[in-house]
Amino acid sequence: MTNKKTLFSGIQPSGLLTIGNYMGAFRQWVNLQNQYNCIFSVVDLHAITAIQDPQQLKSNILDSVALLIACGLEPEQNIIFVQSTVYEHCVLAWILNCQTFMGELNRMTQFKDKSAKNKDNINLGLLAYPCLQAADILLYNTSFIPVGADQKQHIELCRDIANRFNKNYEEVFTMPQPIIPTVGAKIMSLQNPLAKMSKSDNNTNSYIGLLDNTDLIMKKFKRAVTDSEANIKFDEEHKPGISNLIKLLHLATDTPIEEIEDNFYGKGYGVLKEKTAESIIELLKPIQDKYHQIREDQTYLSKIIDTGKDKAQAIAHDTITRVYKTIGLSLTG
Ligand code: TYM
Repeated sequence: MTNKKTLFSGIQPSGLLTIGNYMGAFRQWVNLQNQYNCIFSVVDLHAITAIQDPQQLKSNILDSVALLIACGLEPEQNIIFVQSTVYEHCVLAWILNCQTFMGELNRMTQFKDKSAKNKDNINLGLLAYPCLQAADILLYNTSFIPVGADQKQHIELCRDIANRFNKNYEEVFTMPQPIIPTVGAKIMSLQNPLAKMSKSDNNTNSYIGLLDNTDLIMKKFKRAVTDSEANIKFDEEHKPGISNLIKLLHLATDTPIEEIEDNFYGKGYGVLKEKTAESIIELLKPIQDKYHQIREDQTYLSKIIDTGKDKAQAIAHDTITRVYKTIGLSLTG
C-alpha cells in the first residue's frame, strides 16, 4: 500500500446487477481507482439477510467478481475480495453492534423498505445490516466511500458509530466520507420513474441488467413509462420518466444534458427511447464481451479472490488487533 488515502466500496452479489449499480457505483470506482488505495468487496454476508439458494449464491459471487473486472477495475492494482473470506468483518460487526442504538437501526429507510417487502423474514441481520456495513468500512481505515444516493443514510450512521466508539474508548477509527455522483446517484425504474431502479424488482422490465442482450435492452426502453406530453425536457420533478432517459443518455455518451434537449427538440419520445437504448447497448457491449471471457476462467477468478483475501485480511487483522487492545480484549492469553 502507498500513502494514498483509502477508498472502500461494496456490492451485494447478484447475477442481476443493473445499470443503476453501474452509474451510481462502478463507474465512479473505475474513475477513482488511480487516485486512491482502492478496496472493493463483494459483500456476500449482507446478501444472506434474505434466504439464498446456496448454489446460486456461489455462482452470483463469481458473477459479481467477474463483472467488476469486466467494468474496468484492475485486479492487480486494487484489492478485490469476497467479504465472507475475511472473518474480521463479523468480529468488528459484533463490537459495533454494542455501539449502536436500536432507535438508530429502526430509523433506517432500507430496513423499513425491506421489512415491508418481506414481512415473514424480518430477521436480526436485516436490522443490524448497517453495523456490518460500518465494519466493512472501518476495518480498512477508509477515507472515501463511493456509493449511490441510497447508501447515504448507512454511511452517516457509520460515521456516528465510529465517532461514538472513538469517544467511548480512544481514536481508533478514521472518519470516512461518502462520494456520491452529482448525476447518476439515483437511476430510476423504467416502469415507475418515482422509484429507484432495483435488481430485486419483480417487474423485470423496470431495470436493465448489465448482462441483458441487445433485443431485451431495446424492448425494455421502448416500454419505459414516460408522460402524456410530447416535450423532451430535463425536469426531474414534473417529468421523471423522460428525465431518467435523458440522464442515462447523458451518462452513456457524455453529451451535456442541454445539448440532448436541443438535439431532441420537437422529436417524439420514441426517438429518445431508441437512442438511449442504443447508447446503453454500445456502453455494455465491451463489458459483456469481457465478462463472458473472464467468467469462464475459473482459475483466474479463484486466484483473484485468494489474493484479495490475503491482502484485505492483512489490513483487517491489524485493525481488529488494535480494536481488541483498545477495549481490553486480546487475541492471545
Ligand atoms: P447494493 O449492492 O444495493 O448496490 C451497490 C451500489 O450500487 C448503487 N446503486 C445505485 N446507484 C444509482 N442508482 C440506482 N438505481 C442504484 N442501485 C444501486 C448503490 O448505492 C451502491 O453504491 N449496502 C450496500 C453494499 C455495501 C457497502 C458496504 C457499500 C455493504 N458494505 C460498504 C459501501 C461500503 C448495498 O446493498 O449496495
